[in-house]
Amino acid sequence: MSIQFFGTLGRDGTRIRLPGNYRGSSRWTPHIGDVFPDFTAMTTHGPLDFRSFAQGQWVYLFSHPAAFTPVCTTEVAEVARCVNAFERRGVKVLSISRDTLEQLENWSNEISDDFGHDIGFPMAADPDGILIRACNMLHPGEHDSQPIRKSFIIDAERRVRMIFEYPVQVGRSVEESLRVIDALRESDRRNVAIPCEWRPGDPVLLPAEMRDAEANLRFGSGSWTRMRSYLRVLNR
Ligand code: BEZ
Repeated sequence: MSIQFFGTLGRDGTRIRLPGNYRGSSRWTPHIGDVFPDFTAMTTHGPLDFRSFAQGQWVYLFSHPAAFTPVCTTEVAEVARCVNAFERRGVKVLSISRDTLEQLENWSNEISDDFGHDIGFPMAADPDGILIRACNMLHPGEHDSQPIRKSFIIDAERRVRMIFEYPVQVGRSVEESLRVIDALRESDRRNVAIPCEWRPGDPVLLPAEMRDAEANLRFGSGSWTRMRSYLRVLNR
């Protein structure tokens, strides 16, 4: 596995100059809004170059502590079951752990046998924990050597749009990741803000920074309701 922090292209195709303290620093870790670094890895689907893999598509990248463990088995099986739901949303899936490629291959065969579906996404081996460390997936207070359950949603410009962190003993909700992908897409498409517990089809909000005049231009006057100066709901 290797990571490349340089040569990142910005939205307009220009190279992004990372701040000095990002470069090669073990303290740097991707935050929401950052461009995710390029990396190469061996996976259960062959060698992977992240930039090519992610080209023009969204990515759901998730770490898990270790192969052949109970909670991780249920998570990998559930993501595999939902892989078509990610694909329908134009999202590619990739997992990462500190296991060797051989361990991942053997474990994924067992999951396929036990749960009755193939693991239709690559599982990346990072036995030395290079990307895992760079992405701040090691939390020594939780586990001394294995990564926590961290998820990134990365958009088509390789910008991090969401980060979840779950502890070792609690499996995450794949449904929630899909819900956030739908919410981000809705927010991007309509330039709206998304309320708590939103589901597709539910009402959405005017963003805090949007002036009333712009909302009228964008959505039409009468198309939204002011509940408070800071709480404006789009009627449709
Ligand atoms: C689990 O997935 O159940 C697990 C993973 C690492 C340590 C302990 C439990």
